[in-house]
Amino acid sequence: MCGIIGYNGKKNAIPILIEGLKKLEYRGYDSSGIAYFIDNQIKIFKEKGRISELEKLLVDDKPTIGIGHTRWATHGKPSKINAHPHRVGNVTLVHNGIIENYNVLKEELKKKGYQFQSETDTEVATALIDSLYQENDNKLEILEKAKNLLKGSYAFVIMFDDCKDTLYALREGSPLIVAKSKEGNLVSSDIPAILEYTRDYYLLEQEIAIITKNDIKFYLNREEVKKDMLTFTHDIKTASKDGYQHFMLKEIHEQPTLIKNYLDYYFNNLDLIPDISKYEKIYIVACGSAYHAGLIGAYLIEKYGNIEVKVEIASEFRYKKNFLTANSLVILVSQSGETADTIASLRLAKENKAYTLGIVNVVGSTIARESNQVIYINAGCEIAVATTKAFTLQVLTFSMLAYKLLKKNDSQLSQEVFSDYQILSDEVNKLLNFNYQEIAKKIAKHHDVFFIGRLIDYYLALEGSLKLKEISYIHSETYAAGELKHGTISLIEEGTPVISILTDITIYEKTISNIKETKARGAYSLVIARDNLNINQDIYDDVIKIPNLSDLVTCVLTVIPLQLLAYYVALELKYDIDKPRNLAKSVTVE
Ligand code: G6P
Repeated sequence: MCGIIGYNGKKNAIPILIEGLKKLEYRGYDSSGIAYFIDNQIKIFKEKGRISELEKLLVDDKPTIGIGHTRWATHGKPSKINAHPHRVGNVTLVHNGIIENYNVLKEELKKKGYQFQSETDTEVATALIDSLYQENDNKLEILEKAKNLLKGSYAFVIMFDDCKDTLYALREGSPLIVAKSKEGNLVSSDIPAILEYTRDYYLLEQEIAIITKNDIKFYLNREEVKKDMLTFTHDIKTASKDGYQHFMLKEIHEQPTLIKNYLDYYFNNLDLIPDISKYEKIYIVACGSAYHAGLIGAYLIEKYGNIEVKVEIASEFRYKKNFLTANSLVILVSQSGETADTIASLRLAKENKAYTLGIVNVVGSTIARESNQVIYINAGCEIAVATTKAFTLQVLTFSMLAYKLLKKNDSQLSQEVFSDYQILSDEVNKLLNFNYQEIAKKIAKHHDVFFIGRLIDYYLALEGSLKLKEISYIHSETYAAGELKHGTISLIEEGTPVISILTDITIYEKTISNIKETKARGAYSLVIARDNLNINQDIYDDVIKIPNLSDLVTCVLTVIPLQLLAYYVALELKYDIDKPRNLAKSVTVE
């Protein structure tokens, strides 16, 4: 979603802000802007569309302090006027998040004489801070008061007209990091924007940060506090394209190494994978692809651990009647660790005394910090909006949770699975080298695609379909193969692509019957099948074979062709693969 960058130092702030915004593009945005102090006044530039549109407006100033923003529209359409920074009276700021009580505040502020130009909640927050400033010029007191009055989620970086050498930053719900570097001090919503300057950063929590050219100080209840510095330990290449045409392709190709590192690390530290057999009820709660990883995870835990697991969409779970108790385990899956609905579900689980386990990528994120226990998937920075490597490592984490249970129940089988884990990374590597382009060309010609599968193959198909529609904008639906006859088969026409997944040895023959039904109606059939299954050529036009290993490993392998197919279809259609329209990498609002 929105991105924030702020700079205070000795260098020209404009290129630093613009480069910072470009590093945050992946979060998703539809307008951008910057503001800076120069010659004792504030200049603001903002524009709808890509950052290149903003760049066209810039003038040859050399300010040394400024703020920048990429906006993903929530309140009010994408437009120049709704773009950030916003300025009211003496206050200029950028904001991520949503102010839930902005309507009430707006009415009160109107009574005080404020007029509003934009449709945004951010302009209201700016006016609120300005109105507090009219009564009191102590910035810490103003911001503490604002914190009490604002409801919702926010990360702000603020400039006050009478404080031309200082940036103020605070947050609730939306992440912000603050960093010192030789080039100057920085504040940002995410790590990639600062990595060019430093790997060390502070994670802002409840404190207010005061950022001057030479120093960063943190205050809580107006008392100065010391914070621990964190260090980004991943390879810095993780935040660059490293020669690939797109981040998505690079991240897909990182998977063999990441999987190998992951397995080496967790097999050496098997205690970090908890034994989840002691809970009465287990829930997996997540959004988007992480939810699909949860569906696959539940299947594996049920099959190999013999424990029932419920999987819930976080935006539903947080509002429905819950049956949580102190004997429940709630597993929250999130790449970013900042997804608003998943955080709300985590807090709900904790209120009900359930034990919470986060499966998270971003170190120090809200879900990682607030969960009782966390398993880090160690994917490094994931920049492409369409998740690939993080999803695969989420699935692998569930595979490990199930493996841990299997090890207790069936040591011989667990030994076989262990051998399969040892070759997983190499097998993933081989799958990267298949010629997906030719098949992608055939699929790219169509407006509708159907994915089918049963049980784990259905859950894998859900993710394949999501990947395809996210970046190629082709309408695609997933059906549990047995459901086809209950309506959807009427949509199959001559040439309609039907992508079937056949890896579950217990059920694949049933799916074959369903594939035949679609072929009989003219479908183009692509089958992604486990290598050893008995499959006749008459059920497919194209086939991709997946090595025959344990389910706990094969599910990870099956993800790879689905990712690459989506990628090459989008490439064929010449879409902006890393920044698909309307989507955001991290959904920090409800
Ligand atoms: C967005 C992203 C998806 C992701 C989902 C959940 O929709 O585009 O790729 O799966 O949010 O995000 P999380 O960070 O919680 O895994």
